Amino acid sequence: MEYTFLGNTGEKISRISLGAWQFSESWGVTEYEIAKKVIIEAANQGINLIDTAEVYGRGMSEQFIGKALRELNLREHFLIATKIPGDFLAEHDVYKAVEKSISRLQVKTIDLMQVHWPPCWHNFPTCEYMRALEKLVHLGRIRYLGLSNFPPILVEEARSCLSTEDVVSLQIRYNVVERDAEKELIPYAEREGLTVLAWSPLAKGAVTGKYTPENLPKFEDVRGGEAVFHPENFKNVYKVVEVLIDVAKKYGREPSQVALNWLIMSSPNVVPIPGAKNEEQVKSNAGGAGWRMSIEDWLRIKEASDNLKITRVLW
Ligand SMILES: NC(=O)c1ccc[n+]([C@@H]2O[C@H](COP(=O)([O-])OP(=O)(O)OC[C@H]3O[C@@H](n4cnc5c(N)ncnc54)[C@H](OP(=O)(O)O)[C@@H]3O)[C@@H](O)[C@H]2O)c1
Repeated sequence: MEYTFLGNTGEKISRISLGAWQFSESWGVTEYEIAKKVIIEAANQGINLIDTAEVYGRGMSEQFIGKALRELNLREHFLIATKIPGDFLAEHDVYKAVEKSISRLQVKTIDLMQVHWPPCWHNFPTCEYMRALEKLVHLGRIRYLGLSNFPPILVEEARSCLSTEDVVSLQIRYNVVERDAEKELIPYAEREGLTVLAWSPLAKGAVTGKYTPENLPKFEDVRGGEAVFHPENFKNVYKVVEVLIDVAKKYGREPSQVALNWLIMSSPNVVPIPGAKNEEQVKSNAGGAGWRMSIEDWLRIKEASDNLKITRVLW
């Protein structure tokens, strides 16, 4: 495994980490023993950051992680990154929600607490929840703060509310076929020295090569309504996947590993957090780091995806 640093904290984190939304009904890993095996394999592969959220399985993902790390005595191995949803950002709820996460995770301190998304349905002033989170750092309940799905202008506002702390990471959707993050957020993070945790780095499985326009299962999981799999988009997405398949053959790799490698080559600040439903997937995803394709191949993939437009206007 390759390592980089979490923002300017000096904390060493694996260049490819693990997403744990899979431990929920949304993705189908609802059996604790399967989640535990995924975590064991992640540790074996040198992965040391695990990303979860309060909303994943309404606490189930946090619970599985807490239980597994305790049973396996792996608490010190992993940096735990969790998230507080945009709906829980009234000051009193920030304190309540963080205590609940701490209890589910069975830890004294959460390593990275991220605001999952900016409040949209309520008028929670930015400084109200950012100051409450900073207070929890002072009280030793949180070590580092991060933001997720915040545009740079709101990131700036959130940072301006903090007095002794700063935001160390930004989390955003970023994969080889959905590259909006390159427009504003990644340049901002590079300039400011913030880590970009890339979510859906495999486009929810769309760029792994195992789904084709002729073999698009009727997903009963979270992918049912995912734009990238809509036939109108997927026929174009698959043209990029064909290039990934071709490049993968050249290096004796899997298309998913090429897709992850392409991301880490695209910015030194990007840390993909692919989700895995079993040990084989974690092992394979860890193999997205530790090697580099040629610049020519990186460019070939970039050019194949440059003109791709995923439409979300589907009705
Ligand atoms: N901040 C946010 O708002 C936000 C939003 C979404 C996700 N996230 C985080 O990002 C993480 C990853 O994103 P994601 O779960 O949306 O999607 P993803 O990582 O792009 O895709 C994960 C899915 O791809 C398939 N897969 C994974 N590894 C594979 C491999 N090596 N070979 C073949 N198939 C493989 C699996 O599904 P199948 O086997 O069923 O195809 C898996 O469930 C989440 O776990 C979560 O921690 C954050």
